[in-house]
Amino acid sequence: MRIVLLGAPGAGKGTQCKYIVDKYGLLHLSSGDILRHHRAKETELGKKAQSFMDSGALVPDDVIIDMMTDEIGRAPAGGYVLDGFPRTVKQAAGLDKALDGKGKRIDAVVNLGVDEEVIVRRITGRRICPKCAAVYHVENLKPKVDGVCDKDGSSLVQRPDDTVEVVKTRLKNYNEQTAPLVNYYKGKNAVYDIDANGDAEEVRDQIFSKLDPLA
Ligand code: AP5
Repeated sequence: MRIVLLGAPGAGKGTQCKYIVDKYGLLHLSSGDILRHHRAKETELGKKAQSFMDSGALVPDDVIIDMMTDEIGRAPAGGYVLDGFPRTVKQAAGLDKALDGKGKRIDAVVNLGVDEEVIVRRITGRRICPKCAAVYHVENLKPKVDGVCDKDGSSLVQRPDDTVEVVKTRLKNYNEQTAPLVNYYKGKNAVYDIDANGDAEEVRDQIFSKLDPLA
């Protein structure tokens, strides 16, 4: 299966990808995690992306298309779930072109819909592990020991772009540049709209009910 997970910042894309990957054995390709990995390693790409990410702007399309088609090209045959990519119509067209060239296509687009006030609470309460990228929340998904990653014991941090101010910019960019992707995909790919305001397991079960018949 080749799946695209769409949704605003903080909609729960990363959280739901973990469930999808565990159940269907897919590779999780998160453009945000890949960019943060480049930043941590201080690669040229990471340095280029830094200022865009911290201000809540999108990294330029050509940089992202090259980075992600490269990752997809190395993915195993079992399939993958794309999280955070594509994020503009230009990126979606770039992805389609790369897939067409190999006689492949996206099997399902899962679109997570969440109200903005819920998003702000989710994002400002999020904490991440700088080492393994595990995601927590100060109220909804607490680690066993406050501020410490359950998996590797690292101190949890807040992402620099998870402030109320930057979230506003990210949401604006999402509404202007990413939301139109739903219409781009409708009519040419299977699109499943999910109400993602509920708790994580409830959202997971809605997604599974759509993906099970495709597995
Ligand atoms: P990226 O890392 O992709 O960020 P994003 O899309 O803004 O998404 P988030 O990671 O913020 O949220 P999420 O939907 O994964 O939510 P999560 O599951 O963590 O991108 C960061 C930046 O990189 C961009 O701003 C841009 O600069 C750049 N970039 C990346 N891709 C790009 C591209 N394609 N083109 C150009 N630039 C790009 O959940 C959030 C919190 O809520 C967590 O704490 C979680 O525990 C909690 N939570 C989740 N679900 C629930 C639930 N159902 N109930 C209660 N709490 C929940």
